[in-house]
Order: sequence, then C-alpha cells, then structure tokens
Amino acid sequence: MADFKVLISQEEIETRIKEIANQIDQDYQGKKVTLICILKGAFIFLTDLVRNINKNDIIIEFMAVSSYGNEKRSSGKIKIIKDVDRDLTDEHIIIVEDIVDTGLTIDFLIKYFNNKGVASVKTCSLLDKAVCRKIDVPVDYSGFTIEDRFVIGYGLDLAQEYRNLPYVAEIKED
Ligand code: IMP
Repeated sequence: MADFKVLISQEEIETRIKEIANQIDQDYQGKKVTLICILKGAFIFLTDLVRNINKNDIIIEFMAVSSYGNEKRSSGKIKIIKDVDRDLTDEHIIIVEDIVDTGLTIDFLIKYFNNKGVASVKTCSLLDKAVCRKIDVPVDYSGFTIEDRFVIGYGLDLAQEYRNLPYVAEIKED
C-alpha cells in the first residue's frame, strides 16, 4: 500500500470540470466536435466532463496509448494499443488526457491526428505538470497545474492500481 495524501479534492475537481465544460460549449457553438478519450487514465475525467457539456452534437471516441509500462517515468516511446475506429477527416477533435507530463504523448497524438486530416485539434487535460515538459505542447483546456510529483486517483494509476480514488492524491516517491 503506497503512502499518499489528497492533493485535489473531489469538490475542486467537480467545480473545475464544470468550468471546462462550459468553455467547450461556448467554443464549439454550432460546431460538431469529437472528444477522444485517451485510455486508460482519462476515462473518469471524460465521463464527468461530457456529462457537464450541454451541447448534444458531440461524438465520443476512445484510444489507448502506452508510454510508461509499469514505471513512473515516461519511456518516450508511444505505442498505440487501440486506435480510433472511425475516419476523422475534417472533424474538429479534442484530445482528452488525464495528465500532460513530458508532453511526448500529446505531441505524438497531435501530429498523428493532423496527419489524418482533421479540421482542428485541441487538447484537454485534467492535470498539467508544466515544469516537466521535454517538448512544448499546447494544453488548450487545463484543469490544474501541478508540481513535479507523482499523482494517483481519479483515473490515474500506479502500476494499474488506485484509479478508482475519487480525488487526486500525491504519492510519496520511494
Ligand atoms: P507524457 O507523455 O510524459 O506527457 O505522459 C503522459 C502520460 O503519462 C499520462 O497520460 C499518464 O498516463 C502518465 N503520467 C504522467 N505523470 C503521471 C503521474 O503523476 N501519475 C500517473 N500517470 C502519469
């Protein structure tokens, strides 16, 4: 059992998600948009986010990528485990991530979808470890900026565990 403490409470997450959802409603008024949930980490964020978006012309897709294995640091090699199974040509898309750390995953995904001929790509992440960037990437909708610390809960894991915590917790490094 890892030692951890709550960093961002359930209430804080709920409030921030409502704000992001309102922003997406405003920004995509009259436009269809596809939200791409990056599995596994973003699954809880995505479900809470879409339930707070009022417009109904949103499409939800799932994609699974891996860069960490069971480590706490990104390997930098992004592997597509499951691709989106629909043609996204000319669609407006928002990539929904749990956390942007080095930026390598989101950078890979932005390029990947641009190559597929989408109309526009925006990025949305619950958490942003801005100080850990190895590559400059845009985070268009960002929930919370956090320091360089390993976090778990609300979808985020440590070796696949702790995803079900209803808050974000800081884990003590070994
Ligand atoms: P990046 O490619 O380094 O930006 O890493 C992005 C991915 O690394 C995220 O989607 C997470 O799956 C994982 N990740 C980065 N930091 C953490 C963390 O603190 N806790 C859990 N997973 C993390």
